[in-house]
Amino acid sequence: MPAVIGKPTTPEEEDLLFRMLRQLDVASDASQRATASALGVSLGRLNAQLRAATEMGLVKITERGGPDKRQRFAYAITSRGAAELIRLRDTFLTRKFAEYDALHAELTGTTSGFDPFKHRTKLMQNNLAPIPELYVSYESAQKLKVEAGELTSHDLSPRQICDLELLMNGGFNPLKGFMSEADYNGVVNDMRLTSGALWPMPITLDVSEDYAGTVEVGQDIALRDQEGVILATMTVTDKWEPNKAVEAEKVFGADDDAHPAVNYLHNQAGKIYLGGPVTGIQQPVHYDFRARRDTPNELRAFFRKMGWRKVVAFQTRNPLHRAHQELTFRAAKEAQANLLIHPIVGMTKPGDVDHFTRVRCYEAVLDKYPQSTTSMSLLNLAMRMAGPREAVWHGLIRANHGCTHFIVGRDHAGPGKNSAGEDFYGPYDAQDLYRANQSEIGCEMVDFKHMVWVQERAQYEAIDEIEDKENITILNISGTELRRRLAEGLEIPEWFSFPEVVKELRKTKPPRSKQGFTVFFTGFSGSGKSTIANALMVKLMEMGGRPVTLLDGDIVRKNLSSELGFSKEHRDLNIRRIGYVASEITKNGGIAICAPIAPYATTRRAVREDVEAFGAFIEIHVATTIEECEKRDRKGLYKLAREGKIKEFTGISDPYDVPANPELSVETENVEVDNCAHQVILKLESMGLIAAQ
Ligand code: PPS
Repeated sequence: MPAVIGKPTTPEEEDLLFRMLRQLDVASDASQRATASALGVSLGRLNAQLRAATEMGLVKITERGGPDKRQRFAYAITSRGAAELIRLRDTFLTRKFAEYDALHAELTGTTSGFDPFKHRTKLMQNNLAPIPELYVSYESAQKLKVEAGELTSHDLSPRQICDLELLMNGGFNPLKGFMSEADYNGVVNDMRLTSGALWPMPITLDVSEDYAGTVEVGQDIALRDQEGVILATMTVTDKWEPNKAVEAEKVFGADDDAHPAVNYLHNQAGKIYLGGPVTGIQQPVHYDFRARRDTPNELRAFFRKMGWRKVVAFQTRNPLHRAHQELTFRAAKEAQANLLIHPIVGMTKPGDVDHFTRVRCYEAVLDKYPQSTTSMSLLNLAMRMAGPREAVWHGLIRANHGCTHFIVGRDHAGPGKNSAGEDFYGPYDAQDLYRANQSEIGCEMVDFKHMVWVQERAQYEAIDEIEDKENITILNISGTELRRRLAEGLEIPEWFSFPEVVKELRKTKPPRSKQGFTVFFTGFSGSGKSTIANALMVKLMEMGGRPVTLLDGDIVRKNLSSELGFSKEHRDLNIRRIGYVASEITKNGGIAICAPIAPYATTRRAVREDVEAFGAFIEIHVATTIEECEKRDRKGLYKLAREGKIKEFTGISDPYDVPANPELSVETENVEVDNCAHQVILKLESMGLIAAQ
């Protein structure tokens, strides 16, 4: 047989290349003689094949060192070789099944009755068999990591890390990497990959234009997490500028920024998409709830071990209450299956309860399920809130995780209201699309029964099954109502939730009178900010209950910003620092009182956003006029400013944006300081931030 130079052209050449790459992946330190014998080829043949693979960039030679001249060189697969290995593995398996089919026909005179592709799917991908991953062996990973250190790298966004994890561990099977342009177009327009397989969600690697300019098609890049750890390499096969408006319309149903994924698409995602096969080096590192996270293969192994043949998955991004428990019980009973509670811990809808709290809530509820029939596993998926398409996507992901059934509820993965105040999707659109595609998803739908509490019978019942609605009292607490009750510290009835869950939720979301907050005074120098802030601090300390910190302009300038002057840039930096400290204090349940001039509206808005992520922000305009401040001139600074001895002085030679919508505006002329501080206290009381005395 002639030596193979260049790309393999015959199936035999392709098979040999596949087997050789595989051998190098699993036993890269073996001698050439051992490799040749493992492959059943002569040393000469192996050498020719190694040379060809080296020229194609699939294998690289390294000098081994050491005394043995015959063992001078070692061969290892490159990241491109690893990607090729994954591709060839599929071709190899498909061919083997075709061969089996032919043999079956030859020996029995009948066809095996299996379409090679489907046959393969059934044999290899039933819910208990292992599923293909994109990782190379541990040995190759160590080598690739060093090699990848030399490559151009891309720092993945949190959403891309979630996507990559599920690509690598088989959660997104059959995807082999971030989508090519052709796959992307097929998915956007018809929910189909170029192979014809059903896939409803674009999985794309978006990058900035600047970064895309540094990457050529055909190049390998390293994909790093936010700490710089290399998780994978990708051979870039495609680079294009997508039409995001079309993607928004087709995938999410509307090009409307009120949809969280459309907002992400337009305002966070890069302009250019890169596509190509991914070679997995290591899983993203998680420090939280490790024992509760499972890859598809880990879950499949668990189901095998437990003898669970049918498993119904429950997807959730919310804490579980009694109604959820009831519906999951019913779903398991209906499907005659075991139950997998499979909550999302990747990215959910902005404003959701954080996953740390939720997992503690789930753990508390898990005891209420029979241990032998129910399990819980955390899924690091970045949700898109795409309703119908999302439901289909979730089903495919659950099938990959070994589940046979999937609960789809009313308004599954709904994104809330659009900018016209209407729902993006109809309440049962997700169930309809799922039903239409069920046979291909490979995971049967169990449709959600809307469970309500029937007071007279003291039990949950499915609303569509209740026949005597006129004679009974139906109770239900919506998500909004629950949030209100938590914020105001009101009772949450036992029929609605479990005391353990409510306790966890109350810990994270205490009533407003126990949450941290920030009072932010703004006004001219000498307006009286510091005096009122001091009085307020003393009054709040007298009340007790929460630690109080005063971040007065002068104190901050001395302790945090001593190197800063009064240019716009420096003032912004000063205020952002105050905002950062105040947001940390707020997060930790304290009261921050800030009293800088803070002359610019945009900077004040940015600080408000930082703080409001954790608690209330109360902007108070100390509205003393510039004339009055200049008349008082306690520090003699206005005089110096008028004489031009102090430059960029607020109100004299530097602007002050009067707050447009402060929570409170106080006049100080002819009003006692004590009275000003009292006005603030009343405001805090009316907002529920301090309990009425
Ligand atoms: S800013 O704009 O919010 O960063 O200012 P701030 O940190 O509050 O500091 C203001 C105090 O610094 C003194 N000072 C000046 N103020 C305004 N403009 C100029 N150019 C300036 N130079 C010094 C002034 O005493 C301010 O004190 P307060 O407490 O506001 O009277």
